[in-house]
Amino acid sequence: MQYIITYSPCFKKNALRELKSIDNQIRIITDFNESISLIETIFSQEDFQSKILKNNVIFIKHIAPVSVTGEITGDLEKDKQLLLHEILNHFTPVKNGEKFAIQTRICDGETSLNAPLDYSAKDIEVYIGTYFTDLGGMPTFSDKQIINDDEVNVFSIFIYGNRFYIGNSLSLFNLNFSCDDYRISSHRGKREISRAENKLTEALSKYKIDLGEKGGYALDIGAAPGGWTNVLLQHGFIVDAVDPGNLNPILLENPNVKHYKCKIESIAQAEEFAKNHKYDIIVDDMNVDPEVTAEIMNILTPCLKDNGLAIVTIKLPGNPEKGIQDAVKKLSDCYYILKINNLFHNRQEVTTLLQKKW
Ligand SMILES: C[S@@+](CC[C@H](N)C(=O)[O-])C[C@H]1O[C@@H](n2cnc3c(N)ncnc32)[C@H](O)[C@@H]1O
Repeated sequence: MQYIITYSPCFKKNALRELKSIDNQIRIITDFNESISLIETIFSQEDFQSKILKNNVIFIKHIAPVSVTGEITGDLEKDKQLLLHEILNHFTPVKNGEKFAIQTRICDGETSLNAPLDYSAKDIEVYIGTYFTDLGGMPTFSDKQIINDDEVNVFSIFIYGNRFYIGNSLSLFNLNFSCDDYRISSHRGKREISRAENKLTEALSKYKIDLGEKGGYALDIGAAPGGWTNVLLQHGFIVDAVDPGNLNPILLENPNVKHYKCKIESIAQAEEFAKNHKYDIIVDDMNVDPEVTAEIMNILTPCLKDNGLAIVTIKLPGNPEKGIQDAVKKLSDCYYILKINNLFHNRQEVTTLLQKKW
């Protein structure tokens, strides 16, 4: 069985190691580009999917089965009919009221076609999506918002050069509902303070954390220029933002933001700080070594409410597995490590979801 996998270019080796730990005979058939490969495993789709989920993979961002391949013509009218025809021939069409998504990616590559394709992924999605909607299906769009829905019936179409690759799975098995970061980042059109905002928004969605609108108290360390603070404010939080760097002036005007313009080390152990603040959530996007992140998060535990959550990025400039291992070992003194993933909006880092231990 073949799959298309997506990973950060800097973590390709780590993603492959994760796959090898599931099936040591796994092999790469084609590297489409620096972050997408076609792989082949000995396992059936069902077995492979359940092993991937059980193993809690960190470095694979998205995975899509490939059951049908063939050649496109390069002509939109012909290709959209061809791809729909292939889907109807090989998979059960959507049922009345069923949530579905057509996820198409077009990747440049060597082609025997005379010219690059003059149509987009969207053209294919709209055509096939309209057909399925007419059958009674409920379309779900990953480019309208960051969503995390495990139950969507996903038809994945990947086009590379003049070849197409199609597969069908529940979104749960794709690991990530969205299949590419461009779509995720371009979805909102809201005013952003920094691109880092997408990281927190994606983590909240991926980990199904509903912050609601009532808010509470949040601590944001490594906050500048303030993207994460901005997200927390949108959920009604009062935010203590710690960073020696400057926050966006819009945030400084907000009465719900207090900026501690210093390193967290200079205040974290201050008694007054720990006593006065019991935060509902701590977020940490500091660019420091993994062990420093873990040490600081542990020092901050008394400031977090019992069972409180923390969302923390661990920067991995060196050996990624070791960086994660060192940080996790330390963090486990004070937190349950609920999740660790290299999300679409992470570059050379992983996002972790922690819960304070009693
Ligand atoms: C990736 S940026 C954070 C981006 C931020 N989350 C946002 O949404 O705009 C990392 C920040 O960590 C801050 N930082 C690094 N070491 C720190 C420390 N010891 N204490 C507080 N902030 C620190 C840096 O000044 C930098 O602004």
